[in-house]
Amino acid sequence: MNKGEIFASMVFAFLLLSVGYSSSHEEEEADRITALPGQPNVSFQQFSGYVTVDQVAGRALFYWLTEAVQDPVSKPLVVWLNGGPGCSSVAYGASEEIGPFRLNRSGSGLYINKFSWNILANLLFLETPAGVGFSYTNRSSDLLDTGDQRTAKDSLEFLIRWLDRFPRYKNREVYLTGESYAGHYVPQLAREIIRYNTKAMHPIDLKGIMVGNAVTDNYYDNLGTVTYWWSHTMISDRTYRQLLSTCDFHGQKESKECESLYAYAMDQEFGNIDQYNIYAPPCNNSDGTGFTRRMLRLPHRPYPVFWQFSGYDPCTEKYAEVYYNRPDVQKALHANTTQIPYKWTACSETLNQNWNDTEASILPIYKETIAAGLRIWVFSGDVDSVVPVTATRFSLAHLNLSIEIPWYPWYVKKQVGGWTEVYEGLTFATVRGAGHEVPLFKPRAALQLFKSFLRGKNLPRS
Ligand SMILES: *[C@@H]1O[C@H](CO)[C@@H](O)[C@H](O)[C@H]1NC(C)=O
Ligand SMILES: *[C@@H]1O[C@H](CO)[C@@H](O)[C@H](O)[C@H]1NC(C)=O
Ligand SMILES: *[C@@H]1O[C@H](CO)[C@@H](O)[C@H](O)[C@H]1NC(C)=O
Ligand SMILES: *[C@@H]1O[C@H](CO)[C@@H](O)[C@H](O)[C@H]1NC(C)=O
Ligand SMILES: *[C@@H]1O[C@H](CO)[C@@H](O)[C@H](O)[C@H]1NC(C)=O
Ligand SMILES: *[C@@H]1O[C@H](CO)[C@@H](O)[C@H](O)[C@H]1NC(C)=O
Ligand SMILES: *[C@@H]1O[C@H](CO)[C@@H](O)[C@H](O)[C@H]1NC(C)=O
Repeated sequence: MNKGEIFASMVFAFLLLSVGYSSSHEEEEADRITALPGQPNVSFQQFSGYVTVDQVAGRALFYWLTEAVQDPVSKPLVVWLNGGPGCSSVAYGASEEIGPFRLNRSGSGLYINKFSWNILANLLFLETPAGVGFSYTNRSSDLLDTGDQRTAKDSLEFLIRWLDRFPRYKNREVYLTGESYAGHYVPQLAREIIRYNTKAMHPIDLKGIMVGNAVTDNYYDNLGTVTYWWSHTMISDRTYRQLLSTCDFHGQKESKECESLYAYAMDQEFGNIDQYNIYAPPCNNSDGTGFTRRMLRLPHRPYPVFWQFSGYDPCTEKYAEVYYNRPDVQKALHANTTQIPYKWTACSETLNQNWNDTEASILPIYKETIAAGLRIWVFSGDVDSVVPVTATRFSLAHLNLSIEIPWYPWYVKKQVGGWTEVYEGLTFATVRGAGHEVPLFKPRAALQLFKSFLRGKNLPRS
């Protein structure tokens, strides 16, 4: 090559680079949220939109990134997933748990959550799988045969393509977090990433995972759950004994006798409590229709859990369904650009009721992720009766991990925030007085937990 040719090829290379740069930059800019309706002024940047994960079926997953308040470039990327299966991370994680905004009572505006996790990290809320929230599929049969495997594969595809759209996040530390049925999604996605990384040119720098009130192992979870019901006086000695002697506890199919015992416990003995926080008042519809109940099924339970709108303000999900169905909100979020033929809901009952692909136990994945050297934290709000702390303790006990730091109370603002025990490869922590959605019920304690997790430090002893 002569000088001219060298120069020409350099210019050409430069053009290629800048085209590559600007196209992803443009895509990123197209996803920028200027401001959401009713949003207070904030200093951090936000982006949201769709990433196609399957071209043939036409599946696209919706995400919402809220960057860290200060110095986002130096902070990790934290993915948050909600469970259900079928529930939205926008509805729960973003709007009532760890996100920067809370919805006000009329669904007409937002206010700042002063315990938001974006004080410490960049938060990526992903609605997964397709059919959840704004995430959609053009092949309607997808809604009837989705399960754990497709969720993990599509979520990995999402992450890979999302990182292409946001190259500045490419070498960032990544953490996966979530709660409830995300006790399946988070470890399963971690396993997909670990496998992907073995052959990837640009591996994803996955550092750790953290799950709360996490569905973990069918048998130990179910056994731990009825034990919680009994030890928290929700059921009689007789029902407890009968459940133990009649039920198999291994899967969603149980004998008629067992199912009727579950039904008896819930209908005759529980009373009108919020199962997700047994000491909180349930939501009372202002229209006088009484208490809202929506049926949700955990795939390893024979009997559905009635999802009662829950929380300190027990009606928050209703505000979410008002707010996120507003056309101006959807426009600001770049959501529902293809006229999805049904309304946005906090949970998809269609997905939930057709969820047949479910792994019986996540414990083997923990073995794999521990071996891979990930930081693993499992926490539990101790007044949840749906995936209660006893379920988690029974499950974790069967990992047979040796104790590194024995059980001790941890503190937040001079109060016992909960208890913790550190095992070889895994940290367990309870959150005292928190229901199923820990960051909703105990926001300050949850933020402390998140801070200790990110720093890889044990929870404070005082
Ligand atoms: C928000 O920012 C806009 C534009 O910078 C400004 O006009 C407005 O007064 C601010 N509002 C508040 C409440 O700070
Ligand atoms: C789904 O179909 C709509 C309408 O044909 C189209 O605009 C959209 O791009 C499709 N989505 C995906 C992910 O292929
Ligand atoms: C909700 O927020 C909107 C916009 O900020 C505000 O106009 C409205 O008064 C708020 N409503 C309530 C009940 O707080
Ligand atoms: C529920 O709301 C109705 C109508 O607003 C009211 O009459 C009733 O007393 C409320 N019940 C409870 C338990 O708060
Ligand atoms: C999408 O928009 C259409 C109107 O264009 C609306 O009827 C539908 O409820 C919306 N669906 C979702 C999931 O937001
Ligand atoms: C999945 O399971 C549900 C409930 O057991 C059943 O009604 C549905 O037909 C099943 N779907 C498939 C695709 O097997
Ligand atoms: C834990 O140890 C018990 C008894 O030694 C064994 O049966 C079980 O398979 C072990 N669990 C795991 C997950 O390795």
